[in-house]
Amino acid sequence: MKPMLCGYLLVSIFPFCSAEIYRAKAERIMTETPLIDGHNDLPWQLLKKFNNRLSVAPANLTLLNDTHTNIPKLQSGHVGGQFWAAYVPCDTQNKDAVKRTLEQIDVIHRMCEKYPEAFACVTSSTGIEDAFQAKKVASLIGVEGGHSLDSSLGALRMFYRLGVRYMTLTHSCNTPWVDNWLVDTDQEQPVHNGLSQFGKRVVWEMNRLGMLVDLAHVSVQTMEDALEVSKAPVIFSHSSAYELCRNRRNVPDDILRRVNQKGGLVMVNFYNMYVSCNKAAANLSQVADHLDHIKKVAGSAAVGFGGDYDGVSTETLARPPGAAGCFAAQKRVRDSLSQEPPDDEPIAYEELEGQCRTSYGYPSRASASPPSMLPAALIVPLLYSLLL
Ligand SMILES: *[C@@H]1O[C@H](CO)[C@@H](O)[C@H](O)[C@H]1NC(C)=O
Ligand SMILES: *[C@@H]1O[C@H](CO)[C@@H](O)[C@H](O)[C@H]1NC(C)=O
Ligand SMILES: *[C@@H]1O[C@H](CO)[C@@H](O)[C@H](O)[C@H]1NC(C)=O
Ligand SMILES: [Zn+2]
Repeated sequence: MKPMLCGYLLVSIFPFCSAEIYRAKAERIMTETPLIDGHNDLPWQLLKKFNNRLSVAPANLTLLNDTHTNIPKLQSGHVGGQFWAAYVPCDTQNKDAVKRTLEQIDVIHRMCEKYPEAFACVTSSTGIEDAFQAKKVASLIGVEGGHSLDSSLGALRMFYRLGVRYMTLTHSCNTPWVDNWLVDTDQEQPVHNGLSQFGKRVVWEMNRLGMLVDLAHVSVQTMEDALEVSKAPVIFSHSSAYELCRNRRNVPDDILRRVNQKGGLVMVNFYNMYVSCNKAAANLSQVADHLDHIKKVAGSAAVGFGGDYDGVSTETLARPPGAAGCFAAQKRVRDSLSQEPPDDEPIAYEELEGQCRTSYGYPSRASASPPSMLPAALIVPLLYSLLL
């Protein structure tokens, strides 16, 4: 079937009932329609456990048994598509964030190449359909956190070329152009009050490229700004309903209403802290409550799954669910912007942070000229005065 806007799977047909009849129905649906999960941190586990060495024996993804995710679990859960997170922590910001993000993108590509019977790395809705027909997990890439860009639109464009199809605007840190969710807690102060001017240009460039704007992990003001400026539907790749669990990683109702007007997708997180608001294991009926609430406020087309497997530290639900995708609407926006040139205006040098930065290309910067060279205008009079 043709992928529709945010419509790979409507939640009303998902089996949060124990009855076998619903289970059988759900399994039939999942073999007919690709379920897409919005967020999985297995690549981060591969870095932490194996330093990304897929060649070592314990890294066999069929046998892996101390992670939420392995190939048999994905298959028995009928996961049709999976966004794999190319995540690097915030302490890489202004250090090696870009390099480490490239390495996480690389390990996802290598995972697809090493297990071609299980995975197909794809970048489009056609690719998802083809992988699904071939009974492989359609594997997509999301970069989790704008710090991965190092404030560079050139890096953003290259991420797109490497297959990245969503970017979460922040992780748990502000970047030089956007505020994160912690500014809505007492842990951090707002710096940009949402998106800066450059941040708005990042969103526009993502629209132009055809990269989904992910608002999991951002502040409420950032959600509002992004909903205002993005021409394409936004997604929340792994967030739940704030009304049911008052954790700032979740989406408040007034934002859900705007998602309803604008189109978009909220992929429900399965992390206990965001579902039940406490550390005790959440159960499926609680997840279903979040799905129902989001459906009620944001509309049924907005509901998806973002399990956050291998990103959460406590035991969550045993069975990987699926999620939906918003490629079609994003593609229409991209097509409508296809005559627009790339935004090639770099961020202002003053807006960058960090001590280890060069300033090539910013000609007015003093540090761009070698400090040992005195300007000729000074040297000539100096020599002249010495000779006299
Ligand atoms: C992983 O282990 C299985 C079962 O022993 C084996 O058949 C398969 O070849 C291994 N895969 C890789 C890539 O080593
Ligand atoms: C998990 O995998 C390891 C390494 O492949 C193996 O030694 C161990 O017996 C397995 N544990 C279970 C419970 O299957
Ligand atoms: C899920 O957990 C909640 C809160 O602990 C409880 O009230 C409810 O009965 C549980 N539901 C099921 C189906 O286990
Ligand atoms: Zn996350």
